[in-house]
Amino acid sequence: MKREKFSSRLGFVLISAGCAIGLGNVWRFPYITGQYGGAAFVIIYLIFLAILGLPIMTMEFSVGRASQKSAARSFEVLEPAGTRWHWTKLVPLLGNYMLMMYYTTVGGWTLAYFWKMISGSMDHLDTAQVGNAFNELLSDPAQQVGWMLAVTVIGFLICSRGLKGGVEKVSKYMMSLLFVILIVLVIHSFFLDGAKEGLSFYLIPDFKSALENYSLGEILFAALGQSFFTLSLGIGALAIFGSYIDKQHSLVSESVNVVLLDTTVAFLSGLVIFPACFTYNVDAGSGPGLIFVTLPQTFSEMAGGRLWGALFFMFLAFAALTTVIAVFENIIAFAMDFGWTRKKAVLVNIVAIMILSLPCALGFNVLSGFQPFGAGTTVQDLEDFILSNTLLPLGSLLYLLFCTSRYAWGWDNYYEEVNSGKGLKLPRWTKGYLTYILPLIIIFILIQGFIEKLGFPANYLLPALCLIYPLYLLLQARIVYKKKEQKQ
Ligand code: PHE
Ligand code: NA
Repeated sequence: MKREKFSSRLGFVLISAGCAIGLGNVWRFPYITGQYGGAAFVIIYLIFLAILGLPIMTMEFSVGRASQKSAARSFEVLEPAGTRWHWTKLVPLLGNYMLMMYYTTVGGWTLAYFWKMISGSMDHLDTAQVGNAFNELLSDPAQQVGWMLAVTVIGFLICSRGLKGGVEKVSKYMMSLLFVILIVLVIHSFFLDGAKEGLSFYLIPDFKSALENYSLGEILFAALGQSFFTLSLGIGALAIFGSYIDKQHSLVSESVNVVLLDTTVAFLSGLVIFPACFTYNVDAGSGPGLIFVTLPQTFSEMAGGRLWGALFFMFLAFAALTTVIAVFENIIAFAMDFGWTRKKAVLVNIVAIMILSLPCALGFNVLSGFQPFGAGTTVQDLEDFILSNTLLPLGSLLYLLFCTSRYAWGWDNYYEEVNSGKGLKLPRWTKGYLTYILPLIIIFILIQGFIEKLGFPANYLLPALCLIYPLYLLLQARIVYKKKEQKQ
């Protein structure tokens, strides 16, 4: 059976960008940036995108394009005979579901706000009232579950129409609208009273005050998670789109495009949110509700604000939906690579995702007092931590290892795949960096982050690192995976 292909190159870039651009840019990026110190965090984040995110994206695309399979089977197609690399698929499998377990709920919030704006229930509210409106939504399970179901059903409906008819087409329209509305909002926010303060918080780094609330380790850990999250890395979410394209363009070029598009949207979102924070006295570090407690106030003072507000939340729901669609497409492809029909895969998974999303949509306050994360930790916080700060970095490490180790798919294969086609090429010197240094950076930040988050004494860091990095080197050199003798 011949694999479906995208109808155009633009289609590929847009759908990959559609998968990358989502709640991560507009909802997660501003609230994490607000919590972890503004511009200082932004700088670290941008550096991570370049030195960590970009290379790993090229690896995911390479694995996808070379194998012509989703993450469910790409490893078994490419692994040297007799090795057990195919077990790696467990991380993508787990990760895609884990993401959907809370993404559908947060996506539901955006639909709920679209409705609130249209129906005029957010008109002329003050800061306290806007905050209350958000809390009311969170503490109303019926509403939350209802909107979550809407996101799930719409996502699967689009997906069930197949790659070209559904996913590619819908993404294209959604993505174009997204840019237009965001730019209007940025221009408007420049004229707010708090614009100057907001922009300086967002753009002028102040490491000293950033470090007053969080240690450097925690900031790095958060930036690492956000970089992987925003680019959809570590769980094969993008890899699958690599399997739908041909070898006309180098994967470095394609990845640079996707990273730039994603970063532009995140950056613009910050330009919209932070001036609003300082204008309406909302604490920039107030957490996941940030955009829902700042923006409605912006809109209520804008000429035609109700319309702009409705459009904005519609756009945000669209951006979330394109991500949901891409991840569903992945989940469906998992099943299809195992011989299920698209229809069966859609039907079974739509039920599965709905059930899996319930704890988040219903589970407010269940975890309050859950110590490592502090009082008020919600199911959504916990699921996000497991995904963004654990599965995504781990999965990224596995892709790294798979593409560099001689006992896996290996550098030579990766290097050939990533560079075939027109456009930017990966330079040869990156081999040492990608094989030995990049993994060290990820492992270091990961261990450091866990030590701080779970409250271990800081002096565990060095011993842990001394244990784990050599382990990585052993993996590079073989030990766990058998030698690739057979396959020439
Ligand atoms: N990148 C997506 C966003 O920014 C989220 C995502 C993470 C999607 C991981 C797939 C995999 O919203
Ligand atoms: Na993103």
